[in-house]
Amino acid sequence: MSISKNITVLGSGIMGHGIAQVSAMAGYNVILRDIDLILLNKALDKIKWSLSKLAEKNKITQIESETIFKRITPEINLEKSLAGTDFIVEAVPEDLEIKRKLYAEVDRFADEEAIYASNTSTLPITEMAALTKRPDKFIGLHFFNPPQLMRLVEVIPGRETRPETTKSVLDFVKQLGKESVLCKKDVVGFIVNRIFIPLVHEAAYFLDRDGVTMTQLDSAVKYKMGYPMGIFELADYTGLDVIYKATLEMYARDKKVINPHPRIKQLVDCRYFGKKTGRGFYEYSSNSYERINLTSEEAEKYNPIGLVATAANNAAWLISNNVCTKADLDKALNLGMGLKTDLFETVKQFGVKNVLTKLNEMSAKYGPRYEPNPHIGTYEDK
Ligand SMILES: NC(=O)c1ccc[n+]([C@@H]2O[C@H](COP(=O)([O-])OP(=O)(O)OC[C@H]3O[C@@H](n4cnc5c(N)ncnc54)[C@H](O)[C@@H]3O)[C@@H](O)[C@H]2O)c1
Repeated sequence: MSISKNITVLGSGIMGHGIAQVSAMAGYNVILRDIDLILLNKALDKIKWSLSKLAEKNKITQIESETIFKRITPEINLEKSLAGTDFIVEAVPEDLEIKRKLYAEVDRFADEEAIYASNTSTLPITEMAALTKRPDKFIGLHFFNPPQLMRLVEVIPGRETRPETTKSVLDFVKQLGKESVLCKKDVVGFIVNRIFIPLVHEAAYFLDRDGVTMTQLDSAVKYKMGYPMGIFELADYTGLDVIYKATLEMYARDKKVINPHPRIKQLVDCRYFGKKTGRGFYEYSSNSYERINLTSEEAEKYNPIGLVATAANNAAWLISNNVCTKADLDKALNLGMGLKTDLFETVKQFGVKNVLTKLNEMSAKYGPRYEPNPHIGTYEDK
């Protein structure tokens, strides 16, 4: 079934209010539900502000801004929020217990045919689907922060999800004017986080192992690996609290996927969450446009082949396990992490043989998690 014009977004926080806004901008009537009226009003204020900025920049007219805003109805009562809706996007906190309770209630009131889509970053889709009476109509729909700006959405069917559900949801993403990538298997971290989150920890290990400075390593990431910024800078920008939470969930599900470095926990314990708190790996002034001074000269002082190798190895695992296509991988890393160069092009630049040698060395020294995935060997040096 296709998704009609009436949808419900559960949770009006960082992600929920953004998803409500982009859905309303695409013409959907949205009921935005939260349990807290104060938060709900704050969410509406943020949406109004964001729409007025778009109008100021002539991206939409003032009248359009008002029409879009009117498409969003705030609601506290769950039953009312689900009446007449055939698509429910859940964006409540990343806590399986909260989600479990919510889905039990939602099952009581939702239309029989309604599709449930969870915006979870790390929780298992199949397990969440099993909490509901309709695992065939349950799917992961992972927007990136902020949904108003980020074009990428990962779509993750669970084991029981019907192909029709996946199709409807892919169509919905298209209607929003966003780019979907299909994560064909419900694996830990899906596509982007499976590469990004472990890489932050690996980068911290390389600081210890290679005696390099943070700005040298970050400059090398930016100037030699095609990243939009350094990896520590990107982590600060994302939020170390968000990264730490994702780390715990990913590690709990699969110890092989991630090797948590204690530095991230230490920073989070000190409430150094990154740019938003003025301190993370780096320190920041209050200027929201501030960027870390990374230079091509500094980049020359470090060879980031170990980082290229670990990112490529995780990407190779996704492809060789048929989790996503190579095209979707490239799209996800480009739109989700801002990579300017395809990951395996970077591997070729560093030399496929060199990357494999590095992985074998790391595997011998630090354990089997670094054993090279055979997919890397299918590429040829330039
Ligand atoms: N923040 C990010 O960068 C990010 C990115 C991608 C995905 N996600 C995922 O999106 C989801 C939401 O994250 P967030 O950062 O927006 O959280 P948030 O804490 O900012 O917002 C959650 C909102 O849900 C509300 N809520 C709690 N219980 C509810 C219920 N039963 N019904 C309706 N609303 C309820 C809370 O009052 C709060 O306003 C999580 O699963 C998270 O993993 C977050």
